[in-house]
Amino acid sequence: MSPLEVKALSLTEMRTHRSTKWRDFPADVLPLPVAEMDFPVAEPIRKVLIEMVEHSDLGYLGAIPEVGESFSQFAMARWGWNLDPNQVYMSTDVGVGVVELLRLFTQPGDRVLINSPIYHNFYTWIEETHVTKVDVPHLLESDGWKIDWPALEAAYKTGIKVHMVCNPHNPLGRVYSREELLKIAHLAKEHGVIVISDEIHAPLTYSDSNFIPFLSLGEVAEEIGVTVTAASKGWNIAGLKCAIIITQGQVMAKKLEKLPPAVHYRASLLGGFATAAAYSHGVEWLDAAIRTLDHNRYFLQELLAKKIPAVGYHVPDCSYLAWLDLSALNLGPNPTQTLLERGKVAFNAGQDFSPHTPQFVRLNFATSEEVLIEAVDRILKSI
Ligand SMILES: Cc1ncc(COP(=O)(O)O)c(C=O)c1O
Repeated sequence: MSPLEVKALSLTEMRTHRSTKWRDFPADVLPLPVAEMDFPVAEPIRKVLIEMVEHSDLGYLGAIPEVGESFSQFAMARWGWNLDPNQVYMSTDVGVGVVELLRLFTQPGDRVLINSPIYHNFYTWIEETHVTKVDVPHLLESDGWKIDWPALEAAYKTGIKVHMVCNPHNPLGRVYSREELLKIAHLAKEHGVIVISDEIHAPLTYSDSNFIPFLSLGEVAEEIGVTVTAASKGWNIAGLKCAIIITQGQVMAKKLEKLPPAVHYRASLLGGFATAAAYSHGVEWLDAAIRTLDHNRYFLQELLAKKIPAVGYHVPDCSYLAWLDLSALNLGPNPTQTLLERGKVAFNAGQDFSPHTPQFVRLNFATSEEVLIEAVDRILKSI
């Protein structure tokens, strides 16, 4: 039997989709922002959703032990992480999970650390919970983006309540090494910092990189860390509204007892069972999707090298977001806007990830070769 192939749906079909990526722009714009894939949904997820709709099984959700059990089996098989499924809790989505954790751990005005450039909703979650942002930006070195350790330690010394870590990293596409994560865990313990690890992109790590779940690092990480993740990125089901919050240490589990029960009940029944189906029966699909994305990350590199070599691009370790440095193209103070106006091509704007990266755009390559060729041609046309 030939291996499963997961390929992008046609542009004509994608343009009928109702999600924000396909509704936010006029028909003459080619959209490549928003972290969702142009791929058809995995069969096991389609099956459970159809079954539930056909049986009018659309009520309120109660306990869904299948979610924790399926995630723990997936995490063991994928990353060798032996976790307690009883410490896996549901939430509406990763955003709601992080906001509720911030509400639990902080008082308004407390200091919360991020490392920019960073997924733009880290900023909105900080605003929503009225905490104070402390940014220790990544440093761009010859071999990629690095944590600024002296600045991080100095910031920890000033009194940080929570460090929000994004691993794998959006938009940089990096997975942090075991050494880096251990260093964060030990520093956090020393300075009384809680680490919230957003691991939503982890299932999409390429086979030449090694994703390390924060809570797999042992006792210190378990004591000070809590993970928020979901099947929504790996299996492209963000619209179903279900994420998971994970603790592994008793100290952290105790703290989470104070989370309002509604954090669980505000997830969706469809999302819960789709999530369990993804973790337990969706691995073949996931691996096929990763093969296509793996091809695309290098296809984009070749395309840029051939047509616009001045664009800076580090091939990501994970996921389908390319963080492109357009500084050399002289597209003005807001390249995203210029590209939209001149080239009719949409990306996420660099300044949404950091005030220091306005010359970057984030391109979503979970699409077809045709769309990528057209997108690069539209950038070229805009110069
Ligand atoms: C790092 C990261 N965290 C969270 C999210 C959003 O997750 P959710 O839709 O579950 O809130 C995204 C979406 O792109 C993301 O990239």
